[in-house]
Amino acid sequence: MIRVPIPGPKAQRIIQADEASMATTTKTSPIVAESALGVWVTDVDGNRLLDFAAGISVLNVGHSHPAVVQAVREQAGRLSHFAGTDFYYENQTRLAERLAAIAPGSHAKKVFYTNSGTESAEAALKLARWNRQRPLTVGLLGAFHGRTLGALTMTTSKPVQRSRFNAYTGGGQHIPAPYCYRCPYKLEYPSCDLHCAKILKELYFETSIPPDDVAAFIAEPVMGEGGYIVPPKGWHAAIKSILDEHGILFIDDEVQSGIGRTGYWFAIEHHGIVPDIVTTAKALGSGLPIGAIIFRADLDYTKSGAHSNTFGGNLVAVAGALATLDVIEREHVLQNTRTQGAYLQTRLRELQVKYEEIGDVRGLGLMVATEFVTSRTTQEPAVRLRDRILQESYRRGLILLPCGRSSIRYIPPLIIQREEIDEGVEILDAAIQAARAR
Ligand SMILES: Cc1ncc(COP(=O)(O)O)c(C=O)c1O
Repeated sequence: MIRVPIPGPKAQRIIQADEASMATTTKTSPIVAESALGVWVTDVDGNRLLDFAAGISVLNVGHSHPAVVQAVREQAGRLSHFAGTDFYYENQTRLAERLAAIAPGSHAKKVFYTNSGTESAEAALKLARWNRQRPLTVGLLGAFHGRTLGALTMTTSKPVQRSRFNAYTGGGQHIPAPYCYRCPYKLEYPSCDLHCAKILKELYFETSIPPDDVAAFIAEPVMGEGGYIVPPKGWHAAIKSILDEHGILFIDDEVQSGIGRTGYWFAIEHHGIVPDIVTTAKALGSGLPIGAIIFRADLDYTKSGAHSNTFGGNLVAVAGALATLDVIEREHVLQNTRTQGAYLQTRLRELQVKYEEIGDVRGLGLMVATEFVTSRTTQEPAVRLRDRILQESYRRGLILLPCGRSSIRYIPPLIIQREEIDEGVEILDAAIQAARAR
């Protein structure tokens, strides 16, 4: 329910102060939150908004889930930090065991805790390089793995992320992404015979990338910031078998797609391969900063001090993570994600029939996007229209985020119900109409 136009008077004051004192980052909408519960956010001027952004795929069990709040409160009152990299605390081990149990594959696994997605990428890249003692990592053009320098080496979703930093990133190689809607080879699935996977071996490993120099290949199971691109069936398996020929490790970046977002604990389960290293963060702590890498136990460091940190596995964050996993299990959140995700895609496809500018609807579970184009024939990205739709949406009480060049992602908390999806899609429909008319 919108009571005053966004940004309201209180919000405007806070935004002004923010602009004066905070670094420039990636702000997209002038929404200033006051509190939130479940899928609803209340802003500082008393507006109530439906959240289809979930803090960038973080609040998977919804805002302020009572079980998470209680676990966090209790832990904060008992012991908040003890430096688990140097000492011991039982809950860290319990969470590690649970992560190992839900991560793909029945092999023995170990866990290293981080504080963010980018730190998980760093940890994964370092572990791979330490083990293989090879200098290169291969990834996908359009991928996002974080912004610290190691992770940035593999991030290529927008030029602005690398501009002026290129000189400090090293050892990254990239191949075109398996982006069927805009196939870089102008082929069609399945007659393409997965050319976009085979090219790694047939062209790159024969020319610019010596496979014996490659420690790891890193990819997201659904490319997130790059536009919610879902690789075609069989792509992961084809890539994995090429990597196996050369002893190259597969890093599965589940920072955005993991912890139930696609209806499975980890999205790679849709693709049927078992990665060597899995990265996670975002939704793991329901808003508390915690990430982890879950890796083959035989890859563990054999020297103390090769890698560590201070806050990894912070006890309050670990309590939040354990409670989050409990909620997902107890409330059958994975099942709900599959059901509501299918429903959301159906509703978005209805809009696609109505609006020529929706070129593509894609995604897995509740990790869904629509790509906007000026015409379905030319597929020219409709960037300005997409931006206007985002604006018209929050004005009507729907929080959304962009991704890729001209896409909008729909990533509500996974506890969302059908009526709330209907409400969101109705607002979106009105927003598209208003944006087209401008
Ligand atoms: C797939 C993926 N990896 C890594 C990151 C980096 O995470 P963080 O922003 O927590 O550093 C993100 C963030 O959006 C992501 O989507």
